[in-house]
Amino acid sequence: MTQAALVTGARRGIGKAIALALARAGFDIAAVDLEASDELRAVTGEITKLGRKAVALACDISKLDQHDPLLDQAAAVGPLTTLINNAGVSVMSRGDLLDVTPESYDRCQSVNTRGTFFLTKTFARRLLETPSSGHRSIVNITSANALGVSINRGEYCVSKAAASMVSKLFAVRLSNDGIGVYEIQPGFIETDMTAPSRERYDRLIEDGLIVIKRFGQPEEVARITVTLATGMLPYTTGQVIQADAGLLTVRY
Ligand code: NAI
Repeated sequence: MTQAALVTGARRGIGKAIALALARAGFDIAAVDLEASDELRAVTGEITKLGRKAVALACDISKLDQHDPLLDQAAAVGPLTTLINNAGVSVMSRGDLLDVTPESYDRCQSVNTRGTFFLTKTFARRLLETPSSGHRSIVNITSANALGVSINRGEYCVSKAAASMVSKLFAVRLSNDGIGVYEIQPGFIETDMTAPSRERYDRLIEDGLIVIKRFGQPEEVARITVTLATGMLPYTTGQVIQADAGLLTVRY
């Protein structure tokens, strides 16, 4: 049975790498981002060249009324079996925890947590109405900041810690319906999101902050996602994969 995945934030970075890797693994893809931009269409164009079906769809996942129309449109590539909650935002500006603004806090919550929660809920309800024999899964890209404290990005940490709980909740709720729910916590991945901090992180990495002394690549997170989405971890659900080069490994 052909699998079909909806990937949020698929225009660039980790989401783009995931969409392409899933397509190479045989998935048809609904690629979603804020706008159906040329960049997003370039991703679906590449997928089509791989011989898979693909559609580029605009949706702001923080707008809950857009979720049902999004899932209706995504059906153009076939019945969805897989949701990759990758879209996310960082803080509006890094700085002292004592200076965090409600606007930046709410933005992190509305995209990273609330948007993820309700898209997952709507997706899951539909999945339960659709009989299926293949592997079905939801993969949430949270962050090492679900656990690790970065006091210059406090509101992002709060939103990702909560998004981690979203994964656990749905993992338990959907386990008896044969739907695996997984979480990946990336550390330092080379994307536009981390570009502003590249020099600082390079210094920290050089000084031993992580065990594998280099930035990760989006394709590495994508490979883990494919492993989870294709059911290569049987008899598991709720697993958290730390794609962080040992950042959170306790050492002394
Ligand atoms: P990115 O900023 O390069 O890409 C994120 C994509 O999501 C963009 O195309 C953006 O337009 C889209 N997006 C943002 N808000 C959206 C919304 N409301 N609705 C739909 N699409 C939206 O970021 P990157 O680095 O590829 O990150 C992807 C995910 O991985 C994010 O959730 C991020 O928090 C997480 N992550 C990234 C890490 C890194 O080192 N790059 C580390 C830990 C987590």
